Amino acid sequence: MKQGDKYGLHRVIKPKGVLPQPADKLDNNMDEIYDNEILIDVLTLNIDSASFTQIYEQAGGNEEKIAEIMLDIVEKQGKHRNPVTGSGGMLLGVVEKIGDALKGKIDLKEGDKIATLVSLSLTPLRIDKIKEIRSDVDQVDIDGKAILFESGIYAKIPEDLPEKLALSALDVAGAPAQTAKLVKPGDTVFIIGAGGKSGMLCCYEARKRTGVTGKVIGLCYSQSSADRLVKLGFCDEVFVGDATQPIPVMKTVSELTNGEMCDITINNVNIPDTEMASVLCTKDTGIVYFFSMATSFTKAALGAEGVGSDVTMLIGNGYTKGHAEITLQELRENDQLREVFTELYA
Ligand SMILES: NC(=O)c1ccc[n+]([C@@H]2O[C@H](COP(=O)([O-])OP(=O)(O)OC[C@H]3O[C@@H](n4cnc5c(N)ncnc54)[C@H](OP(=O)(O)O)[C@@H]3O)[C@@H](O)[C@H]2O)c1
Repeated sequence: MKQGDKYGLHRVIKPKGVLPQPADKLDNNMDEIYDNEILIDVLTLNIDSASFTQIYEQAGGNEEKIAEIMLDIVEKQGKHRNPVTGSGGMLLGVVEKIGDALKGKIDLKEGDKIATLVSLSLTPLRIDKIKEIRSDVDQVDIDGKAILFESGIYAKIPEDLPEKLALSALDVAGAPAQTAKLVKPGDTVFIIGAGGKSGMLCCYEARKRTGVTGKVIGLCYSQSSADRLVKLGFCDEVFVGDATQPIPVMKTVSELTNGEMCDITINNVNIPDTEMASVLCTKDTGIVYFFSMATSFTKAALGAEGVGSDVTMLIGNGYTKGHAEITLQELRENDQLREVFTELYA
């Protein structure tokens, strides 16, 4: 077996020298693997929500067109990095082969079912056939293969949770885990896109961490998401609004916080232009955590400057220590959350 680089540099075709994520093209030949790679027989792609929403809109909702766009992305790049949003997603599959250099060094064996926890935007991927597109949950069943590099992280699919349920929660595991680390007792937390997948997980975690002295406020776009979130009971306040309209959102949050605004705002939407609603609803001393892949650094930085806000802004790293465990634990410890996730995603 040929020797591979820890970060997968050996698979980068162009431009040479860059890491696999920013690369324009990866080698997705899976006939032979390198000694430090894991070959995965792919069952399902969980496309990142911002990416899938963009592809869905470009295709006008037509499934054949969605398949065409996805195949074209992989054909051109050897991976599934959306050229518009730059984002990927993750996958569910079965370990087919483990490189010689990794054997005995990792807690995996051939035949294990895993979810990759590194982005599809850096994962060498080959799609042989698109079998089913589930637009409502951004999941696509395929026949195909993928490579996990030595530095790539993964989670074994737990036996006590349905695999599609675990997959959808693991896709956004960074968000609830960061929420757990950022939120302190007594904080006022504002969650934008609170009725979505990562939004609901963040609301649950925020409720846990703020305790009875804190406040959790959720903004949903659709009434149905808001109704579902109210029923879950994690938020003190839930309202319906459009996060691309910062002024009305700011006014509502001001009323709900007696003009004090929020200590932490977590942005979980899947559409662009919501930076300023996030900034304006947060105290000067507060933190905005941009988990959304549709976030623009320029709009956030220049927009905050433009309104004289000293807020601290965090880029939503998809990974934080213990993120998979924290997220799956939420589904284990809260029956209602698990029921909603099962109904929506499993
Ligand atoms: N940072 C990372 O590493 C990472 C990893 C994975 C995913 N992500 C990103 O995280 C974001 C959330 O992912 P997800 O899977 O949780 O998505 P999701 O389930 O599709 O949720 C997105 C939410 O955005 C809300 N929304 C849409 N337009 C809105 C508007 N104008 N105003 C207010 N809310 C609006 C939707 O509200 P309704 O339900 O009411 O329609 C929905 O609940 C996406 O941008 C995704 O790309 C980031």
